[in-house]
Amino acid sequence: MIKACVFDAYGTVFDFASAAARCPDVPEAARAPLNALWRDKQLQYTWLRAVQGAYADFRQVTAEALDFALETLNLASPGRHESLMVLFETLQAFPEVPDMLRSLRAAGLKTAILSNGTPRMLASSIVSAGLEGLFDEVLSVDPLRTYKTDRRVYQYALDRLGLQAHEVSFQSANGWDACAAADFGMQVVWCNRYGQCHERLPGQPKHEVATLAALPACLGLVPA
Ligand code: LAC
Repeated sequence: MIKACVFDAYGTVFDFASAAARCPDVPEAARAPLNALWRDKQLQYTWLRAVQGAYADFRQVTAEALDFALETLNLASPGRHESLMVLFETLQAFPEVPDMLRSLRAAGLKTAILSNGTPRMLASSIVSAGLEGLFDEVLSVDPLRTYKTDRRVYQYALDRLGLQAHEVSFQSANGWDACAAADFGMQVVWCNRYGQCHERLPGQPKHEVATLAALPACLGLVPA
């Protein structure tokens, strides 16, 4: 019996591509490659820092990944880094997210975010995305000083919600995050927004959906 739905933030609830896409200062043709490299580096830096025991918060990691991406793509110019960081901290939600959260809450489920983002970054994007009041808990890895896929991150969500792994449905658009949560014992819905292949990692998501609009039906809350 599922009691709470826990969501990854970036790429799952918040559209991280909306940062580069809304930056008038970045040439249109460069926005997609910049977004892809920025995201790849951001994630790599979280994994590397977690393995090394060299935690720096997600704002710093995001800023450093952005510098790497801008330099690699010959896009560095005065003010661009700052504009993109402001946009990353004020993201938009994917369009189906507000109504989907309302249906879960109407069905009596708790809703939470579990993210690498800092509490401050998450709070500001919740406001910019118009999602205020739709999450019971907004959980950041920051107090743990490590990153997904450290198992302590998934355990932290259980501790804070007072639930067992099988009582939680975890949603992520990141295949690697979905696998790790499944391996940890949560029921997992992989929101495969980007049409990616299955990860060859321990743990497999129970369900796969194309957007979170399908989540209430997937959990049996409304007819499919
Ligand atoms: C997060 C990243 C992994 O929100 O999307 O934790």
